[in-house]
Amino acid sequence: MIQAVIFDLDGVLVDTARYHFMAWQRLAHELGIEFTEKENEQLKGVSRMRSLEIILEMGNLQLSFDEMNKLAEKKNKWFVQYINRMQASEIFPGVKELMAAIRQNGLKIALASSSKNADTVVTLLGIQDFFDVMIDGTMITHTKPDPEIFLLAAQRLNVHPSHCLVYEDAEAGVEAAHAAGMKCVGIGLPEQLRTADYRVALAPEFSIKEIKSIV
Ligand code: BG6
Ligand code: MG
Repeated sequence: MIQAVIFDLDGVLVDTARYHFMAWQRLAHELGIEFTEKENEQLKGVSRMRSLEIILEMGNLQLSFDEMNKLAEKKNKWFVQYINRMQASEIFPGVKELMAAIRQNGLKIALASSSKNADTVVTLLGIQDFFDVMIDGTMITHTKPDPEIFLLAAQRLNVHPSHCLVYEDAEAGVEAAHAAGMKCVGIGLPEQLRTADYRVALAPEFSIKEIKSIV
């Protein structure tokens, strides 16, 4: 029986995955590297530095640690500019209602985002009060697909991992949830996230009724 729901942020609660993509594409194009939505799938859910490493591998580029830090900062500056222009209404439709229903049914809620900007995004959207626990990229050592972030969320929630359900839009996130011993709802197109236990286009389509029916 599910006792807690753990939500990823970017691409699950709000369309910020689009802003990460726009910023990475801008950087990749500056470096002369081809970068489309297809390549971007590999970056979803992983840390900023790991994302940059993947892009540099795609372009067969080797840079110094200093150069990499500068590029990662540049990407982040663009991303922060994009989210500062974001409206609170950019939260996906039905997300607040889903979180309210989860709480009303006595289940706990955690946020588990690899992003170091998660706090800013959550505050901009005004949804901080929905979460019993918030874990972000500043609190972990290993990025998804490592299970660390979900195990830490479960520990802080004081709920056994087998009683947690994860909502994820990233391959790396689905893998991390499974490695943590949790079931996972995959958010995305039908051809994506084939390993997820359940699949929907938007988080609210997997409602409290479905959550409660998991045995
Ligand atoms: C994840 C996103 O939530 O956070 C990734 O899916 C992003 O695309 C990662 O790279 C790290 O984000 P940030 O804000 O710390 O650069
Ligand atoms: Mg995501």
